[in-house]
Amino acid sequence: MEQIYQWLPILSQYTSLIPADEKLPPIQIDLKDESKLSILSPHDIECLNKQHFVVKDNIFLNLIDCEQIVKDCSHLFKDESTKAKMGQKDEKWSHSNIRGDHIFWINERNFSIIPTSLMSLVSTINLIRDELNQSCDLGLSKVESHLTCYPGNRSGYIRHLDATKSSHLQRKITCLFYLNSHWTKTDGGELIIYANDEKDIVVEPISYRLLIFQSGCVEHQVLPTNSYRYAFTSWFS
Ligand code: OGA
Ligand code: NI
Repeated sequence: MEQIYQWLPILSQYTSLIPADEKLPPIQIDLKDESKLSILSPHDIECLNKQHFVVKDNIFLNLIDCEQIVKDCSHLFKDESTKAKMGQKDEKWSHSNIRGDHIFWINERNFSIIPTSLMSLVSTINLIRDELNQSCDLGLSKVESHLTCYPGNRSGYIRHLDATKSSHLQRKITCLFYLNSHWTKTDGGELIIYANDEKDIVVEPISYRLLIFQSGCVEHQVLPTNSYRYAFTSWFS
């Protein structure tokens, strides 16, 4: 994997970040205790298990204020330092042709500047991890979360996996919650899911839409964006 990271930046055209043999097998997700479900339904669990992803719309309408989060957080991305990086530890590098988003990590360093509107989203998304653990015994102990902003300018993220065999991260589940209240087709930035046997799935990044997928086996891509595009991501491992 390290070798690939070394030569990727010098290429001008990219199609995929996924080396052969890096895909992980899907994890088995079986519903063991239905009574522990409240955000997710038994059908959602079945989708996560069988097709490895599930999309839910108009979720958390009474708990989360998407427009307020964007209002409170847009200033967090006005700096080169938030530009998304790839690679691990000391080998981090960035390249806008691969991914052009800016990132605000939910971590201790940033704790004092996380707006309360965003903090409610952090806690709400964490409930999904609790629910998966209690209903399906997934034993997900770690959470990494960030808010991303693609600043238009055709920025996107090429086809990739969120966890690979050689990655030091053991991400099992990716949760994405979109925050774009006035999204229209001309804004671009749709997420494409490359489903194994089916047609590719197009997920528009519209507000109050939640997407959950298995991090190691669902290949996905963010199409070029034409305006600001906000999303919150959590990975459970
Ligand atoms: C990612 C990612 C998708 C999106 O950050 O790994 O694939 O829709 N994001 O923002
Ligand atoms: Ni991803």
